[in-house]
Amino acid sequence: MSHLSRIRRRLPRLSSTQAAAMAVVGVLCAVSVLTGLTGHTGTATATLAVLVGVTLTAVLLMFRRLAGAQRAGLAAQRDLRTTVEEMQRRLVAAVERERLTAGDRHLELAEAIARVKQVTDRKAASAQVLGLPREFEATVQLFQGFVPRAPMPSSGDFALNPTDLLELLHLIRVRQPRLVLELGSGTSSVWIAYVLEQAGGRLISLDHDIEYATRTRAVLAAHGLTDVAEVRHAPLTPVTIDDRDYPWYDPEALADLHDVDFVLIDGPPAATGPDARYPALHVIEKRLAERATLVFDDAGRKDEQAAIAAWTERYEGLTRESEILGRHAVLSFVRPPAMAVAPS
Ligand SMILES: C[S@@+](CC[C@H](N)C(=O)[O-])C[C@H]1O[C@@H](n2cnc3c(N)ncnc32)[C@H](O)[C@@H]1O
Repeated sequence: MSHLSRIRRRLPRLSSTQAAAMAVVGVLCAVSVLTGLTGHTGTATATLAVLVGVTLTAVLLMFRRLAGAQRAGLAAQRDLRTTVEEMQRRLVAAVERERLTAGDRHLELAEAIARVKQVTDRKAASAQVLGLPREFEATVQLFQGFVPRAPMPSSGDFALNPTDLLELLHLIRVRQPRLVLELGSGTSSVWIAYVLEQAGGRLISLDHDIEYATRTRAVLAAHGLTDVAEVRHAPLTPVTIDDRDYPWYDPEALADLHDVDFVLIDGPPAATGPDARYPALHVIEKRLAERATLVFDDAGRKDEQAAIAAWTERYEGLTRESEILGRHAVLSFVRPPAMAVAPS
């Protein structure tokens, strides 16, 4: 590589305008030096003046360019700062939104946990203190009475629990009813049918829900109890008492019954409406025998307590007995002579 090309490579690259300006300055310098040396002082001074003018113009142009570049740099800096600030604002807003949502979720979660804990604590306490040992003892006693011919359906939840069943079956054994009417079929229907099979007697069970009626029928069939027990589907229809309509089992389903001497009132479910079971006595009273026992489940509930109070006030001959076990009320009915039912 030649010496000249090495120098060219080290020099900063010049634009064609810059190279031309440098050439002009170089020529002017050379002219000024030569004219000075050869004694043409006037030409040398004029050339020098042009050289100074050209140099000053170049410096001025350079300053203008620098000022322009500085202005552009400042504008770019301002734009950048605006963009960064906007991004910061968005980020803070997003974080704040997330924080609030997380706070809400946390609050909801904490409330849900507290609710669940309250319920489970209550259930656990009642199951421990009262429930489990008692229900276990009752279950053992229930199965000592029979050897079921098929798996027994579960008790508890919507069905009577073992303590209630135990007392119910005991009452049926002791009172030996001929015709038992059950309002609300299910597990209890199977147990009652087994007792009636041993003791003699029949069961008619009403269910407002075709699905549960069918299910209970199937279980009774599996246990070979269809000669003893019959499930009737009785959809809820308005029953009017004192100008108020209550949805209750269609009374037509009971039209052929008389001398019912034992009743289990375990339906319709409370979810079907307020005072759901209140119409029972009003409708079945004329179907009862001269003496009958009524077992009213869920007697601790407000609507059921109100129904018992209203019945015992309204129906002469209806009294509440003291119960041994369970959450039901036992009522005994003795028909007053004034209310004798005309033979059909
Ligand atoms: C309290 S339940 C009757 C229970 C029945 N006496 C027993 O002890 O097995 C009253 C009515 O609720 C309905 N039922 C039964 N089990 C249910 C369930 N798991 N969920 C909703 N309704 C149910 C049926 O129509 C039944 O006639």
